[in-house]
Amino acid sequence: MSKMQPVLHETRTFKPSEAFVNQANLSSADIYRALCSEAAEDYLGFWQKLARKYIYWWKPFTRVLDESNPPFFKWFDDGELNVSFNCLDRHLISHPDKVAIIFEADDGKITQSTYQDLYVRVCQFANGLRSLNVKKGDLVIIYMPMSIEAVIAMQACARIGAIHSVVFGGFSSKSLLERIIDTNAVIIITADEQIRGGRVVPLKRVVDEALAMGGDESIKFVVVYQRTGGAVQWHISRDIWWGDLIAEKSNFCEPEWVNAEHPLFILYTSGSTGKPKGVQHASGGYLLGAMVSMQWIFDYKSTDIFWCTADVGWITGHTYVAYGPLAMGATQIIFEGIPTYPNAGRFWNIIQNHKVTIFYTAPTAIRSLIKLGPDLPNQYDLSSLRLLGSVGEPINSEAWMWYYTTVGQSRCPIVDTWWQTETGCHMIAPLPGVTPLKPGSCAFPLPGIMAAIVDEMGQDTVNGQGGLLVIKRPFPSLARTIWGDAERFKGTYFPKNLGGQYYLAGDSAVLDLDGYFWIMGRIDDVLNVSGHRLGTMEIESVLAAHPLVSEAAVVGKYHDIKGEAVVAFVVLKGVCPQAEDAQRITVDLRNWVSKEIGPFAKPDEIRFGDNLPKTRSGKVMRRLLRALARGEEITQDISTLENSLILEQLK
Ligand code: PRX
Repeated sequence: MSKMQPVLHETRTFKPSEAFVNQANLSSADIYRALCSEAAEDYLGFWQKLARKYIYWWKPFTRVLDESNPPFFKWFDDGELNVSFNCLDRHLISHPDKVAIIFEADDGKITQSTYQDLYVRVCQFANGLRSLNVKKGDLVIIYMPMSIEAVIAMQACARIGAIHSVVFGGFSSKSLLERIIDTNAVIIITADEQIRGGRVVPLKRVVDEALAMGGDESIKFVVVYQRTGGAVQWHISRDIWWGDLIAEKSNFCEPEWVNAEHPLFILYTSGSTGKPKGVQHASGGYLLGAMVSMQWIFDYKSTDIFWCTADVGWITGHTYVAYGPLAMGATQIIFEGIPTYPNAGRFWNIIQNHKVTIFYTAPTAIRSLIKLGPDLPNQYDLSSLRLLGSVGEPINSEAWMWYYTTVGQSRCPIVDTWWQTETGCHMIAPLPGVTPLKPGSCAFPLPGIMAAIVDEMGQDTVNGQGGLLVIKRPFPSLARTIWGDAERFKGTYFPKNLGGQYYLAGDSAVLDLDGYFWIMGRIDDVLNVSGHRLGTMEIESVLAAHPLVSEAAVVGKYHDIKGEAVVAFVVLKGVCPQAEDAQRITVDLRNWVSKEIGPFAKPDEIRFGDNLPKTRSGKVMRRLLRALARGEEITQDISTLENSLILEQLK
């Protein structure tokens, strides 16, 4: 832990304006403190009250938390609800004609769907799934572009109690196959093609490839949404067009009332082994987290135009596109394209045209837009904005200041939200009407979230001393298990050295003297590339499977836009390649990783050597590789290194 001695230089603070405070859902430090003490004094009563207030229960729960089998906690587990009912039906009486989704396509075409319309489309599609014999508890893979239909597919699964697993459209057929096999899914919902930045990407073809490689054992049907009309191969007994599936289906679909603990979805994320983890969330607790965080952190009002730019393939797109905004009855934007097409003003143009009030994006997008057009936001009318959000990785203070002054015109608080696939919703974030902001800090835990920083024995560290970020008590939106691997869930997140009690987030962090949380990065072999979580082992095992490769080690290196970049050290089976050979093989290996995992996992840099730096017992010395990748002088102890000459070659 001695490595973690961060120096905290940031002394600037930014208070919310009086105008913001006056309208805020939570508007004073006293209210925040009162909520925190309520949670401290009566933890279960605190969550019980919120769960009753926010969720429509078909059958009210009588038990708040079952802790009898830690760490497999159950929340509200004798209650029954339906998540899709909470997101749609509830709004039909009060505001059926309110726009739920404004969809802006890559080419700028706009489509809208009201709550009434979305409800009907979800019911029809849910009836369509039922007609294909999809039942409660069945697994459905969704491999879709950003679209209203992707949300309909997710909501339809929730409506009939099927468990969805959304696979990000950038994943390869191999990665898709891995997820099909791990979930034993019965149906895949996809599109013919997707369009991003003017480029057409085939989705159906990737599904066909995955199924041809062995994913066809469990999959009975492939439902295809026609996005572009591009040519696709058709398997008559298996493939069915979305339009045909919903034709003549009833506008009414009785929701399946499920137990609060019924799995809502599985979402795969990277960990420190080569195999991604299927993080499983439960219905009731997850929905509660999504709603409460919309209210507290996004300060949501019914007049807001909410825009979270995340893809539904990641957790942010689940919680703050597919579920949170709909459960709150919001109007939200869904954007198909990329921030830089047709030019770097696209985001600002969308904010201007749709009068977005809450804008939530990732630091990597902010950094790339600063680079491409630092003054561009000034050419648009961004006066509708009242709140900005950041997620996915630490935001550096320069990017924060630009976001605050140039995009938010020094008027909009920024909520830097720390959370994870596993936590389901925001865990540590400023309350925009309360917390004085410090650029780069995610501020304080939400009321009811017992986050702390501890040493390797589980003891609280003193402020200013870095340590492991943990959450000391179970909370409703926490993942319930890793699909099919309960032991891994227990071992990874509730390790014995911390007493088996604390949820170990996998990040290191530090509290400053004012008690603000600062996230310092992962403690495991997980990289954060453009806000995407990537396991170094995942990339290593893919590289090692290439016919030319004997061995590979992957580390991260600082990148001014992506946050982190992937650097691979590779030993080939033959001799170490030189010049042109090395260039050719580099291209080959990058394409290989792209094909095996997805383009976002491509190494930025590949270095070849005759060997990797290893200890006498054969363990690769990653800290040396990290230093080499970063171009740092090696000042560390290399006495345990078996082959010290290798360092020169790898430089
Ligand atoms: O390292 C932290 C980083 O992203 C990790 C979680 O990644 P994922 O499960 O893909 O979810 C991303 C979206 C919630 C964390 O362990 N991270 C996320 N948000 C922040 C962050 N690091 C610093 N500041 C944040 N606001």
